[in-house]
Amino acid sequence: MKWYNNKMNTVTSYVIKGNKQLSGAVHLSGSKNIALKVIVASLLFEGDVFLNNIPKIDDVLNLIVLINDLGAYAQFVTPNTLKINSAGLYKNEVSMLHSSKIRASFLLFAPLLHRFGGANIPNPGGCRIGARPIDRILDGLSALGVNAFYDPETGLNKVSITELKDSNYKFEKPSVTGTELLIMFACFGESRETIIENSVLEPEVDELIDFLNQGGAKIKRDGNDIKIQSVTKLVQNSEFKIASDRIEFMTFAALSVVTKSDLIINGVDFNAFSPFVKDLVQVGIQVKKLTQNSCQIIGPDHLLPSKMITGTYPNFSTDAMPLWAIMMTQAQGSSTICETMFEGRFSFISELTKMGAKIEFIENPTSIEEKFQFNIEKNKKYEQTIQINGPITLHNGVVSAHDLRAGASLVVASLAASGESIILDAQNIERGYENFIDKLVSIGADIKRS
Ligand code: EPU
Repeated sequence: MKWYNNKMNTVTSYVIKGNKQLSGAVHLSGSKNIALKVIVASLLFEGDVFLNNIPKIDDVLNLIVLINDLGAYAQFVTPNTLKINSAGLYKNEVSMLHSSKIRASFLLFAPLLHRFGGANIPNPGGCRIGARPIDRILDGLSALGVNAFYDPETGLNKVSITELKDSNYKFEKPSVTGTELLIMFACFGESRETIIENSVLEPEVDELIDFLNQGGAKIKRDGNDIKIQSVTKLVQNSEFKIASDRIEFMTFAALSVVTKSDLIINGVDFNAFSPFVKDLVQVGIQVKKLTQNSCQIIGPDHLLPSKMITGTYPNFSTDAMPLWAIMMTQAQGSSTICETMFEGRFSFISELTKMGAKIEFIENPTSIEEKFQFNIEKNKKYEQTIQINGPITLHNGVVSAHDLRAGASLVVASLAASGESIILDAQNIERGYENFIDKLVSIGADIKRS
């Protein structure tokens, strides 16, 4: 049998010659943040599960290695179709090495708890965009009948089922992966009803719910509340397709605008992407619908400045924030962005500044702290608001991709800038963008790995 798992990339830098107008069309890949959750949820199913449009990115490949290490089967059977079968799962402990590579590792609590009654998982890795604790997630599991504690001697979060019963849990502050883990845990096993309050409205969560419901789960959303009746069997009836990646959409939209290229984007989900379309239109960008799932991004002569505050869906996405910032370097006037989701998401500013961008930290607007989604330490000063002064002509630089989205914004900046730029730590970009270089080259970009 032909297997399609690729070796993970060991790329460390990109060399980019910028200031070129690009042209043509790109097709969006499957969403990273849907794929990771649906892959883990597949381990709750009996029999084979087939997932289409899985993006071949390092985060997914690392998760596959992790799942295989636990004894389950996960292999690509076509370039983007993943087959999963959890029958062989025999281990309930995730190694430190595997966990450190991928944030989604702790989602494995759900299938491992159901299979073994207990599980040990180290604190997760992932992008360095803040402290990223999992306290809310462990708290939620406790409310659903799981004993959870962190053992500092082994560095493991140890969880075990105490009693599965009807329960109600309200997130004090929302969490995307927290919501998804509780859904996965609550939807399976002995008869009980769970209500999750103050959950998030991210489309990625609804895709997970659809996937589970198609397999027989009974999950209903009522606004921010999610009601779940557990079932004892999940079986796939037809293959599930991962929806397009909305952050990749914003990446190519930003690229189109800053390189003045009017690119065509295929694979667009106008419904799920509607908040982004609204944001783009608000600063003067035309999102011209060409078909049911494609559009052309047409930048204005004079891009308008904006005041954005990140938040959970449908508010402005933190993942799109670095891409928005690079667009605003081209706006006529002063823009601001308040980042409320993560306390370490501005690593790209020092790098963009090296390329001529005029960005500075300013005082947070009054009462913004109430909106912070991360845990706030008393007496600590948080620099969460930036001011971007445009328009500016960007020039080349040697910059570092400290995290995935920061890296993507630096690629966009380098493609617009004059001269040759080097992006170090580019492996961070390949955690989340499928065939990024090939897609860029296909629209005329001068970019290569080194
Ligand atoms: N938080 C806690 N304790 C918890 C859980 C969350 O303090 O127990 C904090 C986080 O540290 C963060 C905030 O709450 O400051 C929000 O965290 P959330 O749990 O919502 O984020 P996440 O699930 O870890 C997902 C995406 C991120 C995306 C955020 C927000 C995945 C795998 N990751 O992260 O995606 O930024 O939601 O939308 O779904 C990316 O794709 O580049 C990325 C970072």
